[in-house]
Amino acid sequence: MRAYVMTLFPEMVESTLHTSITGRAMDEGLLELHCVNIRDFSQDKHNRVDDYPFGGGAGMVIEAQPVYDCYRHIREEIGHDCPVIALSPKGRTFTQPIAKELAVNEDLIFLCGHYEGIDQRVLDAIVTDYISIGDYVLTGGELAACVVIDCVSRLIPGVLGNDDSASAESFENDLLEYPQYTRPEEWNGRKVPEILLSGNHRLVDEWRLEQSISRTRESRPDMLERALPGLRRSLSNRLRRKLLKPEENCDKIS
Ligand code: ADE
Repeated sequence: MRAYVMTLFPEMVESTLHTSITGRAMDEGLLELHCVNIRDFSQDKHNRVDDYPFGGGAGMVIEAQPVYDCYRHIREEIGHDCPVIALSPKGRTFTQPIAKELAVNEDLIFLCGHYEGIDQRVLDAIVTDYISIGDYVLTGGELAACVVIDCVSRLIPGVLGNDDSASAESFENDLLEYPQYTRPEEWNGRKVPEILLSGNHRLVDEWRLEQSISRTRESRPDMLERALPGLRRSLSNRLRRKLLKPEENCDKIS
């Protein structure tokens, strides 16, 4: 995947994503990151890219022209249309299904705003999708772009060491992850659950599913509601009775 990021603070995105798993994905050529500084397209002799808002008000607005020229530069390099995602609190809230949707694209362009915003005319001209990473306001879109790129990159085959790990984890099946333990078997008087040491894979799998279901029931009942139809379909009668409460075991009549 190639991620192009239009930003006034390229180092913020580069330093974050050149670290850890995304950094390794870049070293291995599975992920390309091209941060393009909107300021490089300023036509102002002082390299300014923002101006006062028409109609008054606090703060500065990023002008349409440098953003548009930055986009045209990237578009020419890519050679075909692709999604242009503006990071903004007004966007649809980012979720795992949206990450999957984005992961089918070979190229993605991200537009990070700063200050009071970007001139609406260039947004109308180039943006195909608005994404928010949550109901709060950041100082700019850079951290949000990093979140989205990080999440999408781990869906690229080969980015995670083991291809199974992306699908076994939280949100992939609307269940939270089961707890994990490593050596030593006892730490500060706390023991690893006996069953994990038993070597019986069937019982371990069953215990983990039970833990996932009870954690999800406890912390994210909304997620469990979404998971229930799939669980009712896929579990044996014995496990349905063992792992689900009676009221979770029957389809709701609405
Ligand atoms: N820019 C500022 N706040 C944001 C948010 N919550 N999500 C995405 N981009 C943003």
